[in-house]
Amino acid sequence: MDPNARAAELRQLIEHHLYRYHVLNSPEISDSEFDRLFRELQDVEAAHPELVIPDSPTQKVGAAPIDAFTQHRHAVRMLSLDNAFDEEELRSFDQRVRKGLGVEGAVEYFAELKFDGASISLTYVNGRLETAATRGDGTTGENVTHNAKTVRGIPHRLLKPLPGKVEVRGEVLMLKASFEQVNEERSARGEQVFANPRNAAAGGLRQLDSRMTAQRKLDFFAYGVGIVEVAGATPANSLFEEDAAPAATVRRIASTQSGTLDRLRELGFGVRDEARAVLGIEELLEYVHHAREIRESLPFGIDGVVLKVNDLTAQEQLGFTSHGPRWAVAFKYPAEQAFTRLNRIFTQVGRTGAITPVADLEPVSVGGVTVSRATLHNYDEVRRKDVREGDFVIVQRAGDVIPEVVGPVLDKRDGDLPVPQEPTHCPACATALVRKEGEVAIRCPNRQCPAQIAMKISHFVGRKMMDIDGFGEKLVDRLLELGFITDIPSIYRLHERQAELIELDRFGEQSVTKLLANIEASKTRPLPRFLFALGIPEVGERGAQDLARELRTLEALRHADYDALLAVPNIGERTASEIQQWFEDDENRKALDELQALGVIPTEAESPVGDLFAGKTLVFTGRLEKFTREAAEELVAKWGGKAAGSVSKNTTYVVAGPGAGSKLTKAESLGVEVLDEDQFLALLPPGSL
Ligand code: IVH
Repeated sequence: MDPNARAAELRQLIEHHLYRYHVLNSPEISDSEFDRLFRELQDVEAAHPELVIPDSPTQKVGAAPIDAFTQHRHAVRMLSLDNAFDEEELRSFDQRVRKGLGVEGAVEYFAELKFDGASISLTYVNGRLETAATRGDGTTGENVTHNAKTVRGIPHRLLKPLPGKVEVRGEVLMLKASFEQVNEERSARGEQVFANPRNAAAGGLRQLDSRMTAQRKLDFFAYGVGIVEVAGATPANSLFEEDAAPAATVRRIASTQSGTLDRLRELGFGVRDEARAVLGIEELLEYVHHAREIRESLPFGIDGVVLKVNDLTAQEQLGFTSHGPRWAVAFKYPAEQAFTRLNRIFTQVGRTGAITPVADLEPVSVGGVTVSRATLHNYDEVRRKDVREGDFVIVQRAGDVIPEVVGPVLDKRDGDLPVPQEPTHCPACATALVRKEGEVAIRCPNRQCPAQIAMKISHFVGRKMMDIDGFGEKLVDRLLELGFITDIPSIYRLHERQAELIELDRFGEQSVTKLLANIEASKTRPLPRFLFALGIPEVGERGAQDLARELRTLEALRHADYDALLAVPNIGERTASEIQQWFEDDENRKALDELQALGVIPTEAESPVGDLFAGKTLVFTGRLEKFTREAAEELVAKWGGKAAGSVSKNTTYVVAGPGAGSKLTKAESLGVEVLDEDQFLALLPPGSL
């Protein structure tokens, strides 16, 4: 086939699948099939560089840096919203709206999530992204088009033809999962971690080098339009609800806010389907309550909800004050921050030797969760924030993730507290710490460091890894101290010390027998768990699953070369080279051989034992009482099915236990069949547990 035609075809296919995946949350093909299409396009473009066009999906990885930002004047000002913090303030908003519109009864509102990211304005001319700009001061922002092109959910080209100009507004944000992943990568590289997803997203938009933005894996959700000048609209163009005369200029893409979002979704934008129309203040309050409930389970952070009069004509009638629209209000959640005393700063040594300062706090409730420890990220942060032992500090749970110290309240500082000293030697093994050129993190370079070994072992035996029940952190420390264990393989020699173990105080015969049985049982854990347990840098739970599924055996993985690793879906260059290095390392090879000799033979990605769940996708949510979620997911795989983390139209069953939240609601709204644990068990052949 002619490369030009093939490239065009691939682009169209890729755009289509990106839309299915990111916007509709309903993919039609597997990740690896998608990766194949993407690689083919990259290959065609590499072989024929003249065919590369700026809006090719391959260009989402970023382009050469720009020298400086240019200013962008917004065609329509980007205003902010009035805030309401409680029910009373919402009731008075509703009263003002009804008064302004002169209505007695209930007004229809459109209730949306308030995304916690950075706002952006995207101008499309004749269907192509022409300019993307930050909000700036509302009148003028910065032109960040090069960066916006790397953001998922921002199409370079609209999915439907649209002659003229349309400005789409929305929020660029970082998903919680991306935040964790990107921070893990940064900390592994010794770079400063992001304080929260919002900063990471806002900072990501303001990079001169868009390849940096691409690395942050940002997403976009649309919430409205700015200027609309669509010319030549014909009634045949399904985009318009109002029958605009042909060739007239139309200033809306729908007559309501909900219609606007539907149109934006059709045009290819990420639009969340948690938003909904509500009638009157009571339903409005109900939505606020509902959003609060689903907040934790959302894949991104929200800091409230935005409530808008749904009808656009009514919006026009209400108009604006100097600082925001009269037809909308932001209901903001109280910041998840609290004030407490920092008793001590101690140093934690991570699995890879990275040193992290951690604040030991007077326990305090932050957004309903008691916090007694918070991270200070690294010693540069400690200096920058000027936090000292004995200070009163503000603690926050940033974007629903690990609690962190925001900074000290200097007014409350009691006299001259000493400035904390950055350690020069490892608190665990006294080895001199090192800092690699250009890195923020300091590390303990000693691979025999007991703290690192303890962390490695604790990780290995963890619930999502080898799942050795009864092997908590305290026991790991104690056994290391006694010299009963020294490294990972030594766990499997513990049975030789059965008598000595029983002698230990608070450790009776029964618990020793149980522990040893649990250790024995872990020898045949499925390969993905084993791979995750090894603690290979960059290889998390999902990565381990991908590797096991594609390469099938530990032997194959041990001998896989760089290209073979890179061919595994979701394994990038960095990860591939980390894996390769890990398996080439003499100590690691020795440990693997030892484990094997001790009978640790992970169960290889077996072919399914039956096709009961073939072609089916199951999602587990809520508390399961008869088995762990991991075990349930393994059962699904064993019977040929796929377990997924989120509900979409392609989900076959949602298995919901007590406490199920938004996934259950979503299943119900999509008409996905919901089972309880017993109904799920009843599907399986008898005795298959
Ligand atoms: S509508 C006229 N809808 O909140 C203002 N804003 O305080 C129109 N935001 O800067 C804004 N989610 O960045 C709107 N669903 C949503 C939103 C949202 C987040 C942000 C937006 C704006 C700020 C307003």
